Amino acid sequence: MGTLSFTLLSIIFLLIFFTEISWAADAISGTQSITGNSTLVSKDGNFEMGFFSPDGSTNRYVGIWYKDISARAVVWVANRQNPINDSSGTLMINSTGHLVLSQKSGVVWSANPAKPIQTPILQLLDSGNLVVRDDKDENLESYVWQSFDYPCDTLLPGMKLGWDLKTGLQRRLVSWKSSDDPSPGDLTWEIDINNYPESVMFRGSEKYYRGGPWNGLRFSGAPELKPNPLFKFEFVFNEDEVYYTYNLLNNSEKSRIVVNQTNGYTRDRYAWNSVTQSWDVFATVPRDNCDKYALCGAYGNCIIGESPVCQCLEGFKPKGNLMDWSQGCIRNKPFNCQDKDSSGFLKFRSLKLPETAYSWVNESLNLKECKAKCLSNCSCTAYANSDIRGGGSGCVMWFGDLIDIREFQAGGQDLYVRMHASELGSKTKRTVRIAVIVLLVTVVVCGVLLVAHYIRRRKCLEEHAGTNGIIMNQNNAGQTEDLEVLFFDLDKIVKATNNFSSSNKLGEGGFGPVYRGTLKDGQEIAVKRLSMSSGQGQNEFKNEVILIAKLQHRNLVKLLGCCFQGEEKMLIYEYMPNKSLDSFIFDQRKSEMLDWSKRFHIICGIARGLLYLHQDSRLRIIHRDLKASNVLLDKEMNPKISDFGMARTFGGDQSEGNTNRVVGTYGYMAPEYAIDGLFSVKSDVFSFGILLLEIISGKKNRGFYHLETNLNLIGYAWRLWKEGRPLEFINPFLRDSSNHSEVLRSIHVGLLCVQEHPEDRPSMSYVVVMLGGENALPEPKQPGFSLGKDTVTADSSSNKVESSSTNEITVTLLEPR
Ligand SMILES: *[C@@H]1O[C@H](CO)[C@@H](O)[C@H](O)[C@H]1NC(C)=O
Ligand SMILES: *[C@@H]1O[C@H](CO)[C@@H](O)[C@H](O)[C@H]1NC(C)=O
Ligand SMILES: *[C@@H]1O[C@H](CO)[C@@H](O)[C@H](O)[C@H]1NC(C)=O
Ligand SMILES: *[C@@H]1O[C@H](CO)[C@@H](O)[C@H](O)[C@H]1NC(C)=O
Ligand SMILES: *[C@@H]1O[C@H](CO)[C@@H](O)[C@H](O)[C@H]1NC(C)=O
Ligand SMILES: *[C@@H]1O[C@H](CO)[C@@H](O)[C@H](O)[C@H]1NC(C)=O
Ligand SMILES: *[C@@H]1O[C@H](CO)[C@@H](O)[C@H](O)[C@H]1NC(C)=O
Repeated sequence: MGTLSFTLLSIIFLLIFFTEISWAADAISGTQSITGNSTLVSKDGNFEMGFFSPDGSTNRYVGIWYKDISARAVVWVANRQNPINDSSGTLMINSTGHLVLSQKSGVVWSANPAKPIQTPILQLLDSGNLVVRDDKDENLESYVWQSFDYPCDTLLPGMKLGWDLKTGLQRRLVSWKSSDDPSPGDLTWEIDINNYPESVMFRGSEKYYRGGPWNGLRFSGAPELKPNPLFKFEFVFNEDEVYYTYNLLNNSEKSRIVVNQTNGYTRDRYAWNSVTQSWDVFATVPRDNCDKYALCGAYGNCIIGESPVCQCLEGFKPKGNLMDWSQGCIRNKPFNCQDKDSSGFLKFRSLKLPETAYSWVNESLNLKECKAKCLSNCSCTAYANSDIRGGGSGCVMWFGDLIDIREFQAGGQDLYVRMHASELGSKTKRTVRIAVIVLLVTVVVCGVLLVAHYIRRRKCLEEHAGTNGIIMNQNNAGQTEDLEVLFFDLDKIVKATNNFSSSNKLGEGGFGPVYRGTLKDGQEIAVKRLSMSSGQGQNEFKNEVILIAKLQHRNLVKLLGCCFQGEEKMLIYEYMPNKSLDSFIFDQRKSEMLDWSKRFHIICGIARGLLYLHQDSRLRIIHRDLKASNVLLDKEMNPKISDFGMARTFGGDQSEGNTNRVVGTYGYMAPEYAIDGLFSVKSDVFSFGILLLEIISGKKNRGFYHLETNLNLIGYAWRLWKEGRPLEFINPFLRDSSNHSEVLRSIHVGLLCVQEHPEDRPSMSYVVVMLGGENALPEPKQPGFSLGKDTVTADSSSNKVESSSTNEITVTLLEPR
């Protein structure tokens, strides 16, 4: 019995071994063929070629995929338009070097060699390229046919997207029709060979997204394409070829770019994550509304964060009505080409260059020659450097309307647009005179500032008062530091806020109203006017000014200056057009503007801002009132923590304090703080945990009350977690669209942050690591304050909170001691 099964096993083993041997080859030639389950495998074992059927389909195709990856990613299909509809099918290479795929009824697909060859072989290379070459040819890289010349929906490292100008061969990506049908779909990505070539995506015959022309460093519309640890990229543009390509820096990594129409028409770059064994999305286009081709029409400029996103370039006005931007903009005043002096150029900064379908380029002209050339041709409407490397070189000119422009926060380019002279303003009219004036003014201003600075230096050390200048702060060592906080005139602020008109009021903070204002130079500001009756006295005020002046981080609101004159005390901040986080996450309609990836970005931003406060800034700062309404959002929805009025500064290693003034907001306060007035960085971590859970669920901790279970938000999150259905916690509209592993991780981190005992809560640096990482996390215990709404008041065991239990308001409590 035993010997029999052993023999059987051996036979099976041998059979498997033999089938493997016969097909673990990377090449076939002559009479060999690929049929049924046999495959070709690249030498390094990364890629495999053979027959496959997409999930949900019985059609059979010859394709190439990553070997040994469970989630099969097919990177190339031979017969994408001619499926095999039965179980037959043979791929072979015939004696003239043709690749022939046939089924019972005949040939379904074939590929022709560029020239006849004697001893053809078909080989799958480590790059995933399937090639036909002459076995006798010494040059191993001389292919008569290669699959890389006929891409499907995937661009692998080393593939070229673009043109062979000698043969007229175009390589472009075309999406699958659907996930079970590889035949060519609607979405394509290609290089347009205009005079100034650019990367373009089409949806059907309509232009869909423009990556823009290559500016020497990257595609003009892709400022995020930068040197990175994963891959290096290159654009080749010469007489023979025009193409984009990329290569991995480490060949053991895997990455691919796919055009996908079942994904809402996107182009995604994936990178293989060997830890989670899944494909992570590295980058996606289109990224936002402004990436939609020509959204704002001719001469319209798309600016994310503005409302509406479309604006006319300076010197232009909307053509149609304001609801329909596709008609674009027209000139306030057309220029007259006959009269040379009647037109000039206005410089626009940080743009994505307009469509180059009607353009002309010469690499050897400089900007000055470019301008002259543009002026001499009546149809020329704009010019720019064609290469931005090394301060800029080359010349590109546009003829006709300028289409598909957007403005970037960073990484955009300068564009010089032709204008009627009267639109140029005083900027360019008398450049020389202006240069002289500017020089004079600079000298005078510098002189005045120097003197003022000197005088103020002496005055300010005695007391903090003045109108316009710089605050000094004496640090412990007795040295004076310049904090560069501007003093604003009260008059200026009154003007800017329209005398604190109620229409300019943005809201009511803990210590007084906040107004929106516009300075004379157009800069928008937010003015926090401290109410005279407010608890924030002179001390807190100075504290806040000096604190914030020292703090510089992209996730903290920037203080521009302050104003105190008589009774008035004001702080002037940069204006945040998107207001505070609570106006989004707790608002049914607006919350849909924040999809999961934005929310996760916000969570990570807040965590980094708080980490900076706790650890990385020169001081150790505890915020003490972190909550959704104290997180503001900038144009691009980057979170910025605001309101440091109550922050405490600690020197050295002091990490815990005790206070007789409890400040904070109910619903966010850690138990030890609300009850005993004990605060530490860990009480901020608690508030962060609450905020995190609110962002995920879209529900307020204060005010959330689960009827059936008598649970508050923390308790509810804990219960779902314990019952193994944490995903039910997430805001329902996010459920399908979100990255579940990120959501789970976030909820997990949130629960760890709201642990009852401060020592069980992670530090912010650990929080940042946990949010960004993949490692296993510690198991949370039952969180603090999780037993329902009444418990909160009961636990705090005093009537002092009663007055503040109405809504989410900031409370300042004087604890009798
Ligand atoms: C291919 O493999 C599948 C499953 O392993 C098997 O059911 C099928 O019969 C095989 N087909 C051929 C032609 O060997
Ligand atoms: C399979 O395709 C061939 C030709 O493409 C066609 O003649 C044949 O009828 C098809 N068979 C089935 C079962 O659809
Ligand atoms: C090889 O296949 C091609 C395409 O099917 C065909 O035109 C050619 O005649 C074949 N060559 C030979 C020698 O059979
Ligand atoms: C390349 O990647 C592999 C797998 O991710 C890694 O083990 C190896 O250290 C990397 N090599 C270099 C030089 O970074
Ligand atoms: C296209 O997107 C869908 C939905 O996200 C995804 O399931 C599919 O795997 C993607 N296709 C490719 C080839 O990546
Ligand atoms: C570019 O400009 C240079 C200098 O004016 C000129 O010699 C050259 O012919 C131009 N090239 C093209 C392609 O027009
Ligand atoms: C202006 O440029 C256009 C486009 O290159 C060209 O067709 C036209 O001849 C030029 N006109 C003059 C006067 O150079």
